[in-house]
Amino acid sequence: MTSTGGGEPLTENFIKYDRLEELKEFDESKAGVKGLVDAGIARIPRIFVRPPEELASDHPNSGDPTNTQFTIPVIDLGDTMGRRAEVRASVQRAAETAGFFQVVNHGIAKRVLEEMLEATRRFHELPTEVKAEYYTRDQAKKVLFESNFDLYQSKFANWRDNVFCVMDPEPPEPEEFPPVCRDITIEYAKQVRKLGITLFELLSEALGLTTDHLLELDCAKGQAFLLHYYPACPEPQLTMGTSKHSDPDYLTILLQDHVGGLQILHQDRWIDVHPLPGALVINIGDLLQLLSNDRFKSVEHRVLANSVEPRVSIACFFTPKHYPSRIINGPIKELLSEDNPPVFRETSVQELIASFYDKGIGGNSTPRAIARFKLQQSTEY
Ligand code: OGA
Ligand code: NI
Repeated sequence: MTSTGGGEPLTENFIKYDRLEELKEFDESKAGVKGLVDAGIARIPRIFVRPPEELASDHPNSGDPTNTQFTIPVIDLGDTMGRRAEVRASVQRAAETAGFFQVVNHGIAKRVLEEMLEATRRFHELPTEVKAEYYTRDQAKKVLFESNFDLYQSKFANWRDNVFCVMDPEPPEPEEFPPVCRDITIEYAKQVRKLGITLFELLSEALGLTTDHLLELDCAKGQAFLLHYYPACPEPQLTMGTSKHSDPDYLTILLQDHVGGLQILHQDRWIDVHPLPGALVINIGDLLQLLSNDRFKSVEHRVLANSVEPRVSIACFFTPKHYPSRIINGPIKELLSEDNPPVFRETSVQELIASFYDKGIGGNSTPRAIARFKLQQSTEY
């Protein structure tokens, strides 16, 4: 036990501080992280500070600006029919190695991307009392404003607010959206679904399956959005915009603005996903790693906090979470053989999803949730 010079010994509770009380206070403000910044704080509250054990498990090169050996592939999706073999090969290589790639000439107009980013910014920059009407932890809501959905489970809170919405298979009524981002979110969701279908077709072919195999498994059916806002942070080195995690879905399509901060873990090094104007970032999720019997890689990633300016990004998750599918998710039978035995066991969508969410975003990473479905123990995860 530590003692102060002759006075009261410091009890464990005193050292730990009343974290729950501070979490509640933050939650009840309904103002999110942006609310703290608007209040002019110079130091971040303790609930956002990465604890020492979290820092210790970080990777040694974190933040090393000379880390440039590897770059995330950029794939041109123009004329995917005419250039099929080339595009398919690039998608396959990226899905099997980096697990992340950027796409250009993807068919979504620049105007739509810009408007989606702007609408997200507009919502988060509304007065607190307007946003507070949408603030809730009620997961049954189809559109909601939140900060740290896993606030009470995670080891530290992230420097980020977001709007969550389910867009497919049962989208919200238009009136459920905040008017400042309503029309464009509906429009963008339509266009991103089309791109998702193209990607699932290419990924099916890359696995040697028929073009519509993944679509027939309903991979493109459930669609959920997060409209992220990462306010500028007065002490960015003490916290994270988004903790290290892999995505518990089939595939994610991410639209990011010019600010940067997204990094992926590749061969034990953090690699920046540099913003590329007009491009979209694609990554394989845990469910597709499982379906593909470990051929496609769902890679861990994170977002650094920054002190310069707010960052906006929009993630579209293709996920069965909000879609009552009865399909059993194990590795696809057609991919298995004597030489290629199953790496993962069969499971249900319900079990898979529950295991990914039971510890919150930062807590699910070590060991990764997907490791629970491995047939043989491996240290790889
Ligand atoms: C996510 C995510 C990255 C970003 O929402 O799962 O990883 O750049 N987002 O916001
Ligand atoms: Ni992610």
